[in-house]
Amino acid sequence: MCGIVGFTGAEQAAPILLEGLRRLEYRGYDSAGLAVENGGRITVVKASVPVTKEDSSLITLTRRTDDGKNVPGTCGISHTRWATHGAPTDYNSHPHMSCDGRFAIVHNGIIENYVTLRQELVEKGYEFASETDSEVVAHLLEMYYEGDFKAAVMKTVARLEGAYALGIVCSEHPGTLYAVRMASPLILGAGKGENFFASDVTALVSHTRNVIYLEDGEFACLTPESITVYAPDGAEVEKQISVVEWDVETASKGGYEHFMLKEIMEQPKAIKNAIDPRLKGSEIVFEDMSLTDEDIKNIDRIIITACGSASYAGQVGRYVIEKLCRIPVSVELASELRYSDPIITDRTLLIVISQSGETADTKAALEECKARGAKVLGIINVVGSSIARLCNDVLYNWAGPEIAVATTKGYTTQVALLYMFAVYAAKVRGTIDREEYATCVDAIKALPEQAQRAVDINPDVAKTAKKYYDQEHIFFIGRNIDYAVSLEGSLKLKEISYLHSEAYPAGELKHGPIALINDGRLVVALCCYDELFDKMLSNIKEVRARGARVLAVAAEGDDRVLSEADDVIRVPAAHELFGAIGEVVPLQLFAYYVARENGCSIDKPKNLAKSVTVE
Ligand code: G6P
Repeated sequence: MCGIVGFTGAEQAAPILLEGLRRLEYRGYDSAGLAVENGGRITVVKASVPVTKEDSSLITLTRRTDDGKNVPGTCGISHTRWATHGAPTDYNSHPHMSCDGRFAIVHNGIIENYVTLRQELVEKGYEFASETDSEVVAHLLEMYYEGDFKAAVMKTVARLEGAYALGIVCSEHPGTLYAVRMASPLILGAGKGENFFASDVTALVSHTRNVIYLEDGEFACLTPESITVYAPDGAEVEKQISVVEWDVETASKGGYEHFMLKEIMEQPKAIKNAIDPRLKGSEIVFEDMSLTDEDIKNIDRIIITACGSASYAGQVGRYVIEKLCRIPVSVELASELRYSDPIITDRTLLIVISQSGETADTKAALEECKARGAKVLGIINVVGSSIARLCNDVLYNWAGPEIAVATTKGYTTQVALLYMFAVYAAKVRGTIDREEYATCVDAIKALPEQAQRAVDINPDVAKTAKKYYDQEHIFFIGRNIDYAVSLEGSLKLKEISYLHSEAYPAGELKHGPIALINDGRLVVALCCYDELFDKMLSNIKEVRARGARVLAVAAEGDDRVLSEADDVIRVPAAHELFGAIGEVVPLQLFAYYVARENGCSIDKPKNLAKSVTVE
């Protein structure tokens, strides 16, 4: 989390830095700040205000600097913060300065040995202005500086443990920036007479699509005319320039009130982008996959690991893979898996799911399992991301940039790719016949239309949201795939509307949570998994008997539940195994409109960040 941007060129830096931060706000928004070097002096401006519909740290920073116009200089660094060490205040905001005013730094990640370093520096007389772990970097630079910027950077970095992407400016080296990467994302942008670094490509694409991916431990020196990348030992490294495909248009709101609504509406297209290139006629084809048919036949266990919504996409995948491939699948939260001494053999396939490709726990779980011999297949949206580079094979979502913190098209394209893998593997393993395979492929081809229809047949979802927006506690219930979808529906609602919401397997409700059902309590009941419809109906009756109001989620044309429901959300009819996308889309819309009704900051929910690069 936290976003950093650096610029050096001929234009005024501050407006460019602010624009970059605007695109990285999804990474955290507890504070925003910038430092610009001009004529041998560094100016720092910071802001830290709680996010509301009208204001944010970045809006305040923009106001304070008059859109950047009142900060002169053409070389600078900037930061948008998700607080870890130290409260969200102005003094804890980045950039941090060295005592002598020579260095300003921005940092994303966690310096794990900062307590020891801080103590050492305090004993040497350095005064700290913040409670952050990051500030030690500024003072170390001052301590090691003897006129050679690069040497000071190297000596400083040699003292750091943990994860860090750093941007550094020095008043004695006009026009020069250093960028350092260790386990936190950082990308360099190569322009004409100007160069950049940023936490991700969305902050760069309005200036350049030519980027350089740094490896962990590498660092770079940027001037307007040059980018030099170094290995940790200081030797120069030849790097390739990659061209990114995303453009500014795909990273802007395009007329929608929120990125989240835009991204919900983009899902048919995003899913099409994910599946079409992998369909050749009626065959699923994964080009360049190193996993052979023999490997797939040999798999005796699949572990899916991820965090948040990505793990809930994995839950859908679990039901479908088990049903079609007859391989046991478990979905493990990455933060747990990494420390669980996982049992892995060379017949274990690890499927890692991550929209950003940067989630720290997911990356660590991957490394742990890979070291124990698992083959790793990634489902990842961001090309060239840290996790993508660690996988043996990657199925990229090709969903385009996702800006709203709450994922939508990231999740549905993950589900679509899990479907494709399940059907592909089932064919290779011979667990489905030719006819079933053709039916499954047809169901996959219909997914973009399913996502579109899910929007079209629910014109009243905003009205339904208006009816229930003030609920304090909400339960989502479902069975089998419906349960997997209810996890995501509930999380979506909770994260953007701040209403307390829980998802339960419908059969489990009576083992505790039913004690919380009383008059007027909203229960969202997903009843699309036909095989278990009657069981769901019984569970609905149980909660209704205790006074609950029921919002049923049911297939279009299926009116069996109507007599037991107060309201209904409709889901396009689909193949029993492949209906999750059509189910989740109206739940995303429901969450969106409930949050809107509550006046919440939808794209940037409080306390959250999109890319969680700390443990
Ligand atoms: C954060 C985001 C979620 C996301 C999760 C995993 O919590 O707010 O939307 O599902 O991280 O992120 P990843 O990038 O690994 O999919």
